[in-house]
Amino acid sequence: MEMKLRSVDYNSVRGKYVLLRVDFNVQIENGKILDTFRIEQSMPTINKLRDAGARVAICAHLGRPGGVASPELSLRPVSDYMKIPFVADCLDKKFMAGMRDGDIVLMENVRFYAGEEKNDAEFAGALARGFDLFINDAFAVAHRAAASTVGVAKILPAFAGELLRTEVENISRIMENPKRPLLAIVGGAKVSGKIGVLKTLCKLADTVIVGGAIGTTFNYACGANPGNSLYEPDMVATAREIMDIAAANNCKFLMPIDKGVGAKFEKTAKRENKSLDEITDVDVIIDDGPKTADRNIDEINRATTVVWNGTFGMAEWGAVWGESSFRVARAIAERTAAGKLVSIVGGGETVAAVDAAGVRGDITYVSTGGGAFLEFIEKGTLPAIEVLTI
Ligand code: 3PG
Repeated sequence: MEMKLRSVDYNSVRGKYVLLRVDFNVQIENGKILDTFRIEQSMPTINKLRDAGARVAICAHLGRPGGVASPELSLRPVSDYMKIPFVADCLDKKFMAGMRDGDIVLMENVRFYAGEEKNDAEFAGALARGFDLFINDAFAVAHRAAASTVGVAKILPAFAGELLRTEVENISRIMENPKRPLLAIVGGAKVSGKIGVLKTLCKLADTVIVGGAIGTTFNYACGANPGNSLYEPDMVATAREIMDIAAANNCKFLMPIDKGVGAKFEKTAKRENKSLDEITDVDVIIDDGPKTADRNIDEINRATTVVWNGTFGMAEWGAVWGESSFRVARAIAERTAAGKLVSIVGGGETVAAVDAAGVRGDITYVSTGGGAFLEFIEKGTLPAIEVLTI
C-alpha cells in the first residue's frame, strides 16, 4: 500500500502563520536535555519554513501532565536550547502580531490543556485560530488522535513535515517489501503493550525473537520459573496465542534460553548467568544471558532485514546489565555496515542502547517513534497520518 502524504509548497508560505506540531517529548534533567535526537530530526522542516519566510509557532507536548499545567513539564528548557522565543500560553495569540517573516517561537506544553488529549473540537478550534496552515512533523505522537495532531488538521489546510514523511517512507519501504529473511526482535517490559505488533510480526517475519521481561513472560508460558522478576502472569494465554500465530505462519519463534540474574533488582547487583532450569524463586532476572545473545547474533547473521524494538535488560545501567542489548546492537550495526543487512530500530530505550553501544551511525534507519513506531508497523497507518493522506 503506497501512502501519499500532502506536502506543502514552501514557495507559498512567506508571511503565512504556520502551526507546526513536532514531538519534543525528550528527557530533561535539571533543565538539561538528555537526548536531542527528536529535536534535531525536526530541524529540516523548521529550517525550510524559516528560510521560506513563514511565521512559525511550534506546538509540542512533554510527558503526561493530564490536562493541567505542571511547571516541571514546561517546554521552556527546549526553547532555551533552540534559542527561540517561548510562548507561555498556546491559546493566547497576542504574540502573533509581533512576528516577522522567518520568525519561529515555541509554545508551552499543549498537554497542559484538558482538550488536547480528548481531541476536543472547541480546543482544536482555539489552537488553530489565527493560523493559515498546519504542518505535522510529529511522527512519534502520530498514534494519538489529539487536538494538536488530528483536530487542527481538520480545521486548517494540513500537510506532512519532512520528518513525518521520512519516517513513513523509510518504515514502509523496509517493512512492506522486506528483503528476506526478515528478523524481528522485540524486547522490553510488557507483552500487554505489544500484543498487536507481535501478532503482526509473527505473520510478516521469517523469525521473531522475544527478549527482556517480555521474553520472561513467554518463558513462563512455556513452563520456566520466572524467579522474583518482572513478568506478566496474566499474559500466558496471549503469549500462547502469539506463538500459535507464529506456528501457523511458518515463523520461527525464539525466546531467551538463559538469563543474567542478580540477588536484587539493583544496578550494583552481582551478575550470574543461569540457564532457565537453574533459576530459583529468589533470582531476579535483569538481562538475557550470553547464550541467548550468541543465538540472537547467529540469527542476525542469517538475516537480510532486521527490525528491533525493546532492550533485553537494564541497558541504562551500563555494561553489566546491558550486555545482551549492546552485543545485539553491535552485531546489527556490523552486518549493516558490511552491506549485508537493512536494519531499522525504534523506541527510546532501544535507540539509547544503540547509542550507548556507539553504533547509531551504522543502523540503516533509526526512528524517532516508540509507541508510534510499533503501531505504524502493526497497522500501516496512524490517526494523525490518515488525516494528511491524499
Ligand atoms: C513518545 O514519547 O513516544 C510520544 O511522544 C508519545 O508520548 P505518549 O505515550 O505520552 O503519548
